Amino acid sequence: MSEKTIINADNAYHTAEQRAKAYFNSLSVQHADQSYIQALIKDFEIWKQDHVQRRSLFSTLSNKKQQDDYKFLQSLKMTGKLDPYLDRSISYIFMRDMGHALDSPATQKRIQRVVDRLKKQLTRKKSDQDDMFSMTKLYRMAEKNGIESTFIWITEKLNRVTDNIPAGMDAEEAQRKLIKIIAGLVMQAVEEMGDDITQEEKSSKLEQAIRLGYAYGLTYPFIDDLLDSNVLSADEKNRYSQLIRVTLVTGVVPPLGEWTGKNGKHMRFIHSELKAAFELIQESLPAEDWEAFLEQAFVFYQSQEVERVKDLENDTYTNEELYIPVILKSAASRLIVRSIIDASVDEGIDQRTFYYGIYNQLADDFTDMADDRQGGRVTPYTYYLEHHEKRKDLINPFELYWTVIANFIHNVYDSEPQAREVILSRAINSLKRFKAKKGEQKYAQVMGLLFSGIPSLQQTVDDLVQHATDVEFFDKLIRDRMIRNLRQDREEEDVFVTQARRVREDLNASLPISQAEENVLIDEPMMEAANYSLGSTGKRLRPIITWFMGIEEYGLDKQAIQPLLKSLEYMHTASLIYDDLPAQDNADFRRGNPTLHRAYNTATAELTGLYLTQQAVAEQASLESFDAKTVLHLIHYSANVTADMCRGQAMDLQTKGEQLTLEQLNEMCFYKTGLGFEAALMMPAILAGASESQKQALKQFARHAGIAFQIKDDLLDVEGDPTTLGKSPFRDKENNNSTFVSVLGIEAAKKEMWEHYCLAMETLQALNHKNPFLKHVLNYFVHRGY
Ligand code: IPE
Ligand code: IPE
Ligand code: MG
Ligand code: MG
Ligand code: MG
Repeated sequence: MSEKTIINADNAYHTAEQRAKAYFNSLSVQHADQSYIQALIKDFEIWKQDHVQRRSLFSTLSNKKQQDDYKFLQSLKMTGKLDPYLDRSISYIFMRDMGHALDSPATQKRIQRVVDRLKKQLTRKKSDQDDMFSMTKLYRMAEKNGIESTFIWITEKLNRVTDNIPAGMDAEEAQRKLIKIIAGLVMQAVEEMGDDITQEEKSSKLEQAIRLGYAYGLTYPFIDDLLDSNVLSADEKNRYSQLIRVTLVTGVVPPLGEWTGKNGKHMRFIHSELKAAFELIQESLPAEDWEAFLEQAFVFYQSQEVERVKDLENDTYTNEELYIPVILKSAASRLIVRSIIDASVDEGIDQRTFYYGIYNQLADDFTDMADDRQGGRVTPYTYYLEHHEKRKDLINPFELYWTVIANFIHNVYDSEPQAREVILSRAINSLKRFKAKKGEQKYAQVMGLLFSGIPSLQQTVDDLVQHATDVEFFDKLIRDRMIRNLRQDREEEDVFVTQARRVREDLNASLPISQAEENVLIDEPMMEAANYSLGSTGKRLRPIITWFMGIEEYGLDKQAIQPLLKSLEYMHTASLIYDDLPAQDNADFRRGNPTLHRAYNTATAELTGLYLTQQAVAEQASLESFDAKTVLHLIHYSANVTADMCRGQAMDLQTKGEQLTLEQLNEMCFYKTGLGFEAALMMPAILAGASESQKQALKQFARHAGIAFQIKDDLLDVEGDPTTLGKSPFRDKENNNSTFVSVLGIEAAKKEMWEHYCLAMETLQALNHKNPFLKHVLNYFVHRGY
């Protein structure tokens, strides 16, 4: 193996260690001589002037925790505090993520530019801000920048990652981290762009940032978190860790080899995804930077390894042994980001980025202290709490945290006022958040444990945590909102999926047609064929939609609409029987079984189709709880829809081999597929007597959702997994059908699908729908695997 080694790993680690040692030594000297305490107390005296008002009713009121982001931002605006808030927030990001110092006029100008842009965004009306990170908004933004394909790519990737996170790890957290890293890289890329960049260059830089962000971001769930979790056995961990090491020292990902046991499937996915990511990073880096990247990555990896094998019970670790790997891993994770985006190299930036690591790490570890201790993980805090009574030599990590802060303000940023403002605000904000999250008691207890050695500073800080205002940060607002949204979405989706499953099971029980006493002999073969086609693997989407509309939206009676649900599935199944006939798509498989004409014969199939459509009418005519006029109206509507769907199918068959225009395609798919979904929405609306304007909006939604559904169907025909599809793939190509894929190609078909997704979603927003199920129906349409 050694001949393939392209970096000197030991050397690289040693060099980095020396640098970390020097930093740590300087910090521990400052900690020991305690000069930082007075310095900070003085700093806080100055800082306070802008953050502690004389007590007034208003300040106590505005101190109350603001739940609603919009109200919060609105109140900042009203009180003239939006500017300093954004300035503080953006300045912090520039310092932390981009290693800038705030005193350069160029940096100030750039910060101002971002602040101005954000301000414009944040003073828009409420509805525009609420869904700032919805798929629709993001897709529209991608469209504006000409990067739809990359957006679709990353969406698919994120979904696949979530699907492949082993049980025992947090899929939502993985997604959030990935998004955060990608967003960070995009932000940095935007910042690196000059003013005179062309749109084309801009697009390509954004695409690069997204792809690299994903590539690098994967290391968090798939290396870091995976090795930290209990998913892998000790042997598996060693084997996997060894594989990463070999990758980093040779620059080549070795094959995974055979991986048996319950983790095999996940490991194969993880390996192939990381391999692609690794290669992407290599491709995008200039050859001369490759080794430097590998060295940096190795330091990152190795420092984590050192951390990982530490044992909380072991009472012999020195301060250096504790802090140096922490400095290394936290600095390396930041420096790598700069190295992969090929950011402008600058000694100052590099230094500051390096210094920031431990600051963030100590803040994070502070927050996670209780969890870490419970999990037996070694961090400076858990180790200190465990051993400080016997080990008087151990540095108190919280004191070191304040030392780092004082060092930042006075040594790294030369006592520059804005740096002081930002850093101290951030520190007080962290503690306020900690206190709010864990409660007064826990807060007091932790402070007692960690802060009592420096009572003067403790008192100052305690007082400020209680009374200071205007310490909020925009990135925290975004973070909280993102967590909230992801969680809420997940919860809603769970409710939707559970309910949909229940409805589907009920339908599967009630759909089969049973013997009608009077015509036993005639009905029997037809019934059998109809029940065969109804199958049990149909997704039942149309009646499910009707169920949600009827029950959740309009509050109709469950029993009363039962015949309607059945009629929809009968009509739909009939359309599938016809569609599969030799004269039409000539398909051999449907719903996981041979098609009806294959299992029986064409005549039976034709007759069963007719039989099912008539059963549908019979069901509709038995909607007895509704008044006769309404039901007649419904049957009339239904007959028209069926006729129009036939038109759609005819269009489809007539245009085999033709190169349709996009407009013609959209029209055809609206007729053959969109209308089926329209019926599922309109029929309950008719029964409920919904307003004309609501019906129009629902039709609009159905059109776009239906087309999106058909595009996905066309995509599944070529990209779907044949083992779960339930129908034979590549039918469209063999039939020479004009589909979105044949006319546009896969990539453009996906864009068109997302376009209709957005149009449908935008209609929903206009509908001001209180129930989120249509949103989840639509999500299902475009994400489904069969
Ligand atoms: C298939 O419909 C026909 C199209 C409109 C593309 P579904 O995909 O809903 O099929 P089932 O009902 O689940 O079998
Ligand atoms: C059929 O479209 C639409 C119907 C309503 C029958 P497709 O022909 O693409 O449907 P599949 O792929 O056979 O299900
Ligand atoms: Mg067809
Ligand atoms: Mg077909
Ligand atoms: Mg199809």
